[in-house]
Amino acid sequence: MTQKNIILGITGGIAAYKTPELVRRLRERGADVQVVLTRSAREFVTETTLQAVSGLPVRSDLWDKGAEAAMGHIELARWADLILIAPATAEIMARLASGSAPDLLTTLCLATEAPVLIAPAMNHVMWKNPAVQENRDKLISRGVRILGPASGDQACGETGPGRMLEPNEIVAAVMAPLAVPDIVQAPLAGMTVMITAGPTREAIDPVRYITNRSSGKMGFALAVAARQAGAKVILVCGPVSIPAPEGVECINVESARDMFAATHARIDDVNIFIAAAAVADYRAVDEKTGKIKKSTDELSIALVKNPDILASVDRMHNGPFTVGFAAETDNLGDYARSKLESKRLNMIVANLVGKNIGFDADENAVEVFWLGGEQSFPLADKRQLAQDLIALIAERYLQGINADTQTELPIMMVRD
Ligand code: CTP
Repeated sequence: MTQKNIILGITGGIAAYKTPELVRRLRERGADVQVVLTRSAREFVTETTLQAVSGLPVRSDLWDKGAEAAMGHIELARWADLILIAPATAEIMARLASGSAPDLLTTLCLATEAPVLIAPAMNHVMWKNPAVQENRDKLISRGVRILGPASGDQACGETGPGRMLEPNEIVAAVMAPLAVPDIVQAPLAGMTVMITAGPTREAIDPVRYITNRSSGKMGFALAVAARQAGAKVILVCGPVSIPAPEGVECINVESARDMFAATHARIDDVNIFIAAAAVADYRAVDEKTGKIKKSTDELSIALVKNPDILASVDRMHNGPFTVGFAAETDNLGDYARSKLESKRLNMIVANLVGKNIGFDADENAVEVFWLGGEQSFPLADKRQLAQDLIALIAERYLQGINADTQTELPIMMVRD
């Protein structure tokens, strides 16, 4: 591994007591760690300890003439391959979200082009506060990676989400290819990604329809992540109640047949097609023009199969890289692998669905399969999961292109 220059920002939370251990583990993995303490962090951990474990004088003051003379804050911001803030308090999240820079750490975050990762730590009620959640969303949408928090016993004696991840978990995330990439530029720059999302609505009569519990959250999160990875994104979206993501072209549709038509109208320039929609498999054979009256005790509605959008894209000659989703209630791996092969997809993302899991939830856990490989993604917020999935999709897609063409990709900027 090449040396990685990491700025570790420590803010004022009780979990700061774990940071000397974090510094040691990062250094064991070959990183140079420059610690930056905020004023309140000094209440929880000492400069002496951190200087001893990092081997570098700790920085904390924007106005420290001696330190600035050795390496000014702009120089330090440029030196960093990555800024990690652990623990990150609600206060630092608010400052980063608002773009204010009253101290050294926030100034460095504004002045750097390096990825910023934060490991929040706070009381679970604070974490769930809408203001904090809004700041978290804002930071994610700007490309900040949020590590955790974990759920469990808290220093305040309560239990819930808000614990800082353990140092070894943070180190694993920091050292993952996405966080400290050798390919540092947006991996999907110049590519077009089309994503289907949400449910479809199949009319029975003018006032009734068949649909399902899909919220569209996963597809929308993938659209945001693909946009952040540099792609032009077209989102073909069934009826959902969430707003269209910024910078994404959203085509609104109702039925499976509308979704099919909208997809094929734009598919020719698409490089990667991700079918995250929960398309209704069937529609009414005969959509009534007038409202059905309750004139009989029993009523049967004959259904007919909808066109399979993903399969139709997959059958295209020189079609895009295809990623399907499989929602299953059991035998996840077996069903997913057989769909991967029978639909001849490039990748399939499989998740369990049932009561309180999968559909309409903010979190999801998935298994991804491709020919010759698989990867598990444990339960995580759909926005975080989407970033990790897009990173994997981009990696597999780009590997495929490289293998096909044996040419160097102009969009890949290799560091060192
Ligand atoms: N899909 C699609 N068009 C359809 C149905 C499904 O594009 N008419 C896509 C979904 O968006 C998803 C994938 O196909 O990416 C898998 O859908 P699913 O309904 O789970 O697969 P099926 O092969 O229909 O299997 P099952 O019998 O489990 O319904």
